[in-house]
Amino acid sequence: MSITKKSRNFHLLQSKIAYFSWCDIIASSMTNFWKTLAKPIMALAPMADVTDPAFRIIIAKYGKPDVMWTEFVSADGLFRGGREALIGDLAFTEGERPIAAQFFTSSPVMMEQAARLALELGFDGVDINMGCPDKGVEKQGAGAALIKNPARAREVLRAAKRGTGGHIPVSVKTRIGYSRNEIETWLPLLLEEEPAAITIHARTRKEKSDVPAHWDVIKRAVLIRDHSRSPTLILGNGDVVDLADARAKALETGADGIMLGRAIFGNPWLWSGRPFYSISLEEKLRVLVEHTKLFEQLLGARKNFAIMKKHYKAYVQGFDGAKELRLRLMEAKDVLEVEHVVEAYLGGEVRVRELLQKVA
Ligand SMILES: Cc1cc2nc3c(=O)[nH]c(=O)nc-3n(C[C@H](O)[C@H](O)[C@H](O)COP(=O)(O)O)c2cc1C
Repeated sequence: MSITKKSRNFHLLQSKIAYFSWCDIIASSMTNFWKTLAKPIMALAPMADVTDPAFRIIIAKYGKPDVMWTEFVSADGLFRGGREALIGDLAFTEGERPIAAQFFTSSPVMMEQAARLALELGFDGVDINMGCPDKGVEKQGAGAALIKNPARAREVLRAAKRGTGGHIPVSVKTRIGYSRNEIETWLPLLLEEEPAAITIHARTRKEKSDVPAHWDVIKRAVLIRDHSRSPTLILGNGDVVDLADARAKALETGADGIMLGRAIFGNPWLWSGRPFYSISLEEKLRVLVEHTKLFEQLLGARKNFAIMKKHYKAYVQGFDGAKELRLRLMEAKDVLEVEHVVEAYLGGEVRVRELLQKVA
């Protein structure tokens, strides 16, 4: 072998060693929490102005799912002047881990920066929103609009991976298509980019939440993934009412995990295994007050107290006198008033129970 050929081979070998060791470094420093979770993975859906830092603390305390997401956060907003207002949405506590930060943008540059920030903030993963039907989000070419722009969707996904430097996994949350079911083309395209997981809300953008979720498409999505031998996990989402329903849907479709959203309204015990009917009214009301206190403490300075009112509607229902109590809570302007209404109600309840016992 000539010297030049020998040295060329040596360089090739060297670059291979360099390549392998670089991969090894990435692989060994990559903490892919997805691989540590037992299946079916139970995930809490990101829901803007619902699964905020306050409610997530409550959920983690009373019935923790396997994985949580932040509400979606505008990557552009973070780096174009809105950081102070938005950074609070990325607050989380240790008890919520593993937790992914969800971002929306159509800009690869912004996504790369947002993913880097998520890494710095200690998140366990980064999730890209490719399913939001909100007009304001879509106008920016983000959310569900990315389904119509697959080339950009790829770029944004690659940018997120660059931003995390391979240290934490990147996932995608999307829908089955824009105006019609496009799972046969949209999913393979995403799989080619090898996100760690793809959550599929089983409706099109056009359908929003107006029709029942198409769980048959989730089953098909799992087959497409299996056929392509992709390592990406598939999570199904849409209309799941409780844990039993989630397990049944995982079994029926073969999905690696199930994401639940609206089922958590008024029921932070969802993943506790405790049946909802077994939770006393007093416990519900005490948690309602605890939730309100956390909201005021963490978000009171920058979010409207009215956000709590939809929680009150959900906590306070299904018992005699619920409507009257709800109305009183709706009028409350801060945590002190809420506490007062609840204590007055519970005091009255206890007195009624004592009287009934005396009569009996
Ligand atoms: C109030 C509300 C806010 C939502 N915000 C987000 C969000 O920030 N990011 C996201 O990917 N999806 C968001 N979604 C969609 C949910 O994550 C989920 O896909 C949808 O509610 C269907 O699941 P479900 O039937 O279990 O609720 C939101 C849904 C609701 C109802």
